Amino acid sequence: MFKKIAVLFMAAQLYSCSNAPKQDVSNSNLPKSEPIVAKLSEHDPHSFANSKECTVKHLDWEINIDFNAKILKGVAHWKIENKTGTNQLILDSRNLEIEKVTLNGEAETEFTLSAPHQVEVFGSALIINITPETQVVNIHYSTPKNAAALMWLEAEKTNGKRQPFLFTQSQAVLARTWIPCQDGPGVRFSYTADVTAPKDILVCMSAENPQKKSEDGKYHFEMHQPVPSYLMALVAGDLEFRSIGQRTGIYAEPEMADAVEYEFGLMQQMLEKAEALYGKYRWEQYDVVVLPPSFPFGGMENPRLTFATPTVVVGDRSLTSLIAHELAHSWSGNLVTNATWNDFWLNEGFTVYFEQRIMEEVYGRDYSEMLALNSYNGLLEEIAEFEQDGHSEATHLKLNLKEEDPDEGLTSIAYDKGYLFLRMLEETYGREPFDAFLKEYFNTHAFGVMTTEEFVEYLDKNLLSSNTELKEKCLINDWIYSPGLPANCPVIKSTKLDNVKKELGILTEVLKMNYPIITDTTGWSAHEYIYLTANLPKDISADQMAKIDAYFNFTNSSNSEILGQWFKHAARARYKDSYANMESFLVRVGRRKFLTPIYKALLNSPEGYLQAKEIYLKAKPNYHAVATETLDGLFEEYEKENKD
Ligand code: BES
Ligand code: ZN
Repeated sequence: MFKKIAVLFMAAQLYSCSNAPKQDVSNSNLPKSEPIVAKLSEHDPHSFANSKECTVKHLDWEINIDFNAKILKGVAHWKIENKTGTNQLILDSRNLEIEKVTLNGEAETEFTLSAPHQVEVFGSALIINITPETQVVNIHYSTPKNAAALMWLEAEKTNGKRQPFLFTQSQAVLARTWIPCQDGPGVRFSYTADVTAPKDILVCMSAENPQKKSEDGKYHFEMHQPVPSYLMALVAGDLEFRSIGQRTGIYAEPEMADAVEYEFGLMQQMLEKAEALYGKYRWEQYDVVVLPPSFPFGGMENPRLTFATPTVVVGDRSLTSLIAHELAHSWSGNLVTNATWNDFWLNEGFTVYFEQRIMEEVYGRDYSEMLALNSYNGLLEEIAEFEQDGHSEATHLKLNLKEEDPDEGLTSIAYDKGYLFLRMLEETYGREPFDAFLKEYFNTHAFGVMTTEEFVEYLDKNLLSSNTELKEKCLINDWIYSPGLPANCPVIKSTKLDNVKKELGILTEVLKMNYPIITDTTGWSAHEYIYLTANLPKDISADQMAKIDAYFNFTNSSNSEILGQWFKHAARARYKDSYANMESFLVRVGRRKFLTPIYKALLNSPEGYLQAKEIYLKAKPNYHAVATETLDGLFEEYEKENKD
């Protein structure tokens, strides 16, 4: 996963605002000079913004959603704070069409777009001339066709097939593809938005949301709490609201609303348990919108409105830890935010820990340990893979992605090694002191940002130094700045999964001997089956899969997690009876976590490759750019290695 990117030319490092030749894109009939090369910020290696000198504070966004042209067009009015009296405001942008930029009342000003960075996701610096007195910068712009954050779906691709659908995915650095902004997690701003959509479309944002469609397609949004750009989110479609509890609700297409209302029925309880653990929920309302299956992630913690995949709506509430996770981000991530994407584990590790605690409260320890152990096994596999590929630095908690797409850091290390680190602290210092510490941490740093180094310092002062003997045992540096899992890694104990392990051992023997299968599955939940399918022998044959399928019928499972595991084996073992269902799964579902392992497994053989190509051709229009970026990479790699 950790693909290396080309090292930049030395010239790219040399950038001076005043001396560099400028290309005035607003005046395109002048002879073009060399485009300028902008430098990524020292404070955030994934953004061009000069936020230490001049920072954005508030956005008033006016936008029109054009479903026919598949573009957004409007104005971003930025209120800024010029801290040093600089005469430039630098924003991030990627392929945006900037029509003009004006200051304060609307006096036009000059601006420059730098040459696009070699790493495509970084886009260009948008350098705007301002004066020390400038308070508002107005950018008149439109998004290009195929802006990477935006997923436009024709009506036929939705459940109801009546209205088209649009959703955004901004994390990590895609906000700049639909809003010119200082696109790093360290910059926060409040916002309002005035959005115009066609009639019969409901529009929601990561803000205070309407619960009914407007008559005229116009919507006004307010987000009073300051948020970083990666939490900017917009969704528009034929959506309906259902209240779950006093402060919780769901949005879904009408066809799915009943199912979603049942699936997420425990949301209000989760919210209350979360508050009891780590303090008041600071965002007033917590809703979830279920998107079409093209959504590339399981969930996205957009403030006040989590975006979720429909693949967790399975009818038995078995995959709702996703809601606990996204809800937990309302503290870890949205309230206290990783300063850069190299500190990503501060967002995700804390969130998985918090998620586990919510699940334990709602479903009990036996259940939450099962979830933890399934993730742990996945983590071990990923660590082994990184080590095999010579990328053990990718298994540090603190990352060092310089001029690399932060998406490269999106691995289970941040999530599950991060989780284990916090669990180790809990087990070493005791749950009560650790909970008090975490609660205080969220409170003290609310609406702020956090670097790994600042966290380590805070941890030391507020927890570790209370007992220096215990402190020694924590091996903090091994956890954060070293590869793999340190010696004091917590042990996850699940008698439920121990039992499945035993059954799986018997099953494997039985298959070898060609005896009939008998497995005692009494009392199994989806998670026992997930464990079983995830841990089938890596060299399982198609014949053996057929026998398992005859007994368990995994090919027709209604649980996406089980299907994800099963199709991975089917693809590798060339188990034909699964192909039809596997193909329809791959064409319908755009969740990258499922797609990547199945396509990878297909790319293990020449005939699998041909099958994968054919499926990808059909499926690609249903995938978001985040997913196609990864999958294109897999195909390219295969094709390079198998040239003849
Ligand atoms: N914030 C992440 C998703 C994300 C991370 C998007 C980095 C883009 C870049 C979200 O909270 C998340 O972790 N989602 C998980 C689900 C979760 C239950 C582990 C996912 O989508 O699988
Ligand atoms: Zn997360």
